[in-house]
Amino acid sequence: MSKIATLEIDGNKYEFPIVEGTENELGIDIKTLRGATGGVTTIDPGYKNTGSCESAITFLDGEKGILRYRGYSIEELAEKADFLEVAYLLIFGELPTAEQLEKFDKDIKEESQVDEDMKKILDGFPKSAHPMGVLSSLTSALIAFNPGSVDVDSEEEMYGAIVKILAKFPVLAAWTMRKRKSLPLDYGDNSLGYVENLHKMMFAKPNQAYESNKLVIDALDKLLILHADHEQNCSTSTVRIVGSSHAGLFASLSAGISALWGPLHGGANQAVIEMLEAIKADGGDTAKYIAKAKDKNDPFRLMGFGHRVYKNFDPRAKIIKKSAEEVLGDLGIEDPVLDIAKGLADVALKDEYFVQRKLYPNVDFYSGIIYRALGIPTEMFTVMFALGRLPGWIAQWREMRLRKEPIGRPRQIYVGENHRAFKTVSER
Ligand code: SDX
Repeated sequence: MSKIATLEIDGNKYEFPIVEGTENELGIDIKTLRGATGGVTTIDPGYKNTGSCESAITFLDGEKGILRYRGYSIEELAEKADFLEVAYLLIFGELPTAEQLEKFDKDIKEESQVDEDMKKILDGFPKSAHPMGVLSSLTSALIAFNPGSVDVDSEEEMYGAIVKILAKFPVLAAWTMRKRKSLPLDYGDNSLGYVENLHKMMFAKPNQAYESNKLVIDALDKLLILHADHEQNCSTSTVRIVGSSHAGLFASLSAGISALWGPLHGGANQAVIEMLEAIKADGGDTAKYIAKAKDKNDPFRLMGFGHRVYKNFDPRAKIIKKSAEEVLGDLGIEDPVLDIAKGLADVALKDEYFVQRKLYPNVDFYSGIIYRALGIPTEMFTVMFALGRLPGWIAQWREMRLRKEPIGRPRQIYVGENHRAFKTVSER
């Protein structure tokens, strides 16, 4: 017997069915609210209490610190899977067989060429352009070179568009870095694995053979898995709502990249390192910055701390913290910024302000420390986040379209002027 929610307004009672998820989450289905009540809506800035959809892709439990992709725990996937397997799992719903994985890898490689004219668009940007802005533009520009609209109900056409963007996105992302470093654009090498090829396109020097380091590739692969999806976060909700107007996949992804760029979202990984560097330059005075974060009159926030859903530890932050210590140890890197980060977290996790608000380190708090150890420039950190999130965005967009979700169009409560008559300029 499904549960019912009863709402009473001015003595009138209204009943709404309650949707129960596979992990026993409950959601009041208010699809009939306006009609039943003669126009009453809900209001929920930031959608803190509002579910936008039913989804079968990712499950989060913010209180217990649980994250699963298609039912598999993030801990197991980070330990046992590789990024291409996880991309396939998120998008198609099952871990690939050996044959499926081999075909997926081959089909992606066949699409890894990017039209030479795309370089002319890249050339138009100043070297100082932020890579996220360049990547969003180049992703949108891909539409011009792949103009055919995709029939989302055609498995074949959808698969073709998916392998195309999975193939070309790493090339474009690597190009944004090489542009800033005035390095010639690199096309990669199809004899390499997906993540190794990404690393080669980012770091290969034009005058010497590329040599990969398994430790670095494994660390990068794990980071991409940890960022691959996170249910209805800001950028994923952007991809879904843009796609809900039946805009194409590439246009929706371009919008998602822009949403991820914000420092409250994916841009936080860059902001964390800038914050830690500022604390280091300030003599490592963590107490001063903790005080600033708590001061309501100070706009400073402890970047990499807090989360809309996790009111306990972020399971990804736990894995990344451990990986940061391993990678720096294996590479023999002493980064004082890691010690500052750990010191900051230790103090904050005991401070009433953070404890009371359930603010814990999130995925962005330690990730930049690994990216830095791998030689990735700070302004590229959020591009790395986008590279990881790409399969999640694709999976969510595809689910929204296959479920034929309606166009996203929230309502509002108007609080402006009542009706008033126009006055000519001489009457004002
Ligand atoms: C990501 O949604 C996802 O899943 C995102 C993500 C993903 O994988 O897609 O996990 C990736 O975006 C992680 C978050 C990265 N952002 C940051 O690290 C930026 C710093 N964090 C915050 O700005 C904040 O915690 C948010 C944006 C992450 C969450 O904000 P909420 O849920 O809207 O919470 P809020 O701003 O209403 O804060 C509640 C209280 C407030 O204090 P009071 O008004 O109650 O007194 O907590 C305080 C806030 O001032 N607070 C902080 C804080 N975060 C919240 N105070 C100091 N430092 C912080 N970092």
